[in-house]
Amino acid sequence: MDSILVRGGQRLNGRIPISGAKNACLTLMPAALLCDEPLTLTNAPRLSDIRTMAALLESLGCEVAALQQGRVLVVGAERIANHRADYEIVRKMRASILVLGPMLARDGHAEVSLPGGCAIGARPVDLHLAGLEAMGAELDLRDGYVHAKAPRGLRGADFTFPMVSVGATENLLMAATLAKGTTRLINAAREPEIVDLARCLRRMGAQIAGEGTDTIEIQGVARLSGATHPVVTDRIELGTYMLAPAITGGEVELLGGKRELVEAFAERLEVAGIEVADTADGLRVSRQNGRIRPVDVVTAPHPGFPTDLQAQMMALLTLADGVSHLEERIFENRFMHAPELARMGAHIEVHGGTATVTGVERLRGAPVMATDLRASVSLILAGLAAEGETRVARVYHLDRGYERVEEKLSACGARIERITEKAA
Ligand code: EPZ
Repeated sequence: MDSILVRGGQRLNGRIPISGAKNACLTLMPAALLCDEPLTLTNAPRLSDIRTMAALLESLGCEVAALQQGRVLVVGAERIANHRADYEIVRKMRASILVLGPMLARDGHAEVSLPGGCAIGARPVDLHLAGLEAMGAELDLRDGYVHAKAPRGLRGADFTFPMVSVGATENLLMAATLAKGTTRLINAAREPEIVDLARCLRRMGAQIAGEGTDTIEIQGVARLSGATHPVVTDRIELGTYMLAPAITGGEVELLGGKRELVEAFAERLEVAGIEVADTADGLRVSRQNGRIRPVDVVTAPHPGFPTDLQAQMMALLTLADGVSHLEERIFENRFMHAPELARMGAHIEVHGGTATVTGVERLRGAPVMATDLRASVSLILAGLAAEGETRVARVYHLDRGYERVEEKLSACGARIERITEKAA
């Protein structure tokens, strides 16, 4: 299994191009199931999760072509030949549940394996199901699968989310585009990936208003058509690489970055003493001298501080001049990086959903591993600043969400390489 070896202590200077968003692409691809013409996605990221979604769509009878080395994806669902999303694929990636709404809306039936729990929490899909039921779907849960039917088609409904869910908002938004009548999604997620999905669906002919606010209104249409859509910039990759010069010192320009995508995060970075400035091509982040200041962080749905940047922010705060608190409010088990950072010399105490981080003057390299991709990359960030060598195992987590991490960082002066273990 591959690992990443980091020799820490280099200041970073240079430019890093930011890719299209994994989590946007993972909902845009299943949107192609809504119509019989191809959907072309440009600015697609080249990641293993995207290949998993392509394999899932192919298993349903779609044709998926990756052009320009995977930068452009063409997904054609002329006909859905198989309406069953199998456990073997769904268990690898929870976003697989996003094929449920589109298949049901288009053909009136679908079977999708229930995803089960994962390393960061239980992550149920009850809100996806409740919303579809409100739109008239008949659901039966058996053999680990959701068997969904809507023989007369879905119908528009008002659905109020009891808690904000990105995935459930996406599933219902897609389903509502082909439902009869008007759907109002109340207390909907406002993430940039939702806005991007709505824009793409509108290019396909959907009638949608209010995306980016907490109420989205969708007027169902009889059919959608093919379209070409550029995937929005990955705000989590952006935030992750903003932390690289923040933790090592130096100055890096994030090409394609936009502050509006990471406003709450950028504000916390500035409180920590990091400079963030707009440039013609993106965002410039720098820390010249002096210690990092401690800050408190509370994760929340967008526009709050993203849970997907909590682990990386913790890596930074391990080196702050004082005590920081990080409160995780989205996922109950998302501090698995804390004991690994502690192995590098960090002082972190976790009580319930809050981590208290007492900054230390230096971290020391160590062999570490992580259980999800954001935790993995937080260990790489820590390794960039640590004395000596850090070897991050289980790189397949990283490959799910970060394209060419070692190339992007070494172009800025980091000493980082992938170690490929040869099979015996
Ligand atoms: C999306 O997951 C992202 N994944 C996650 O990215 C991200 O951490 C998360 O949103 C929050 O921002 C994709 O977009 C593919 P949710 P999702 O539904 O949609 C609970 C990454 O590292 N909930 O907004 O699954 C749930 O358990 C990741 O790229 C229910 O209770 O997240 C959680 O506590 C991992 N019932 C909260 O809501 C439901 O039916 C928010 O989850 C659905 C969710």
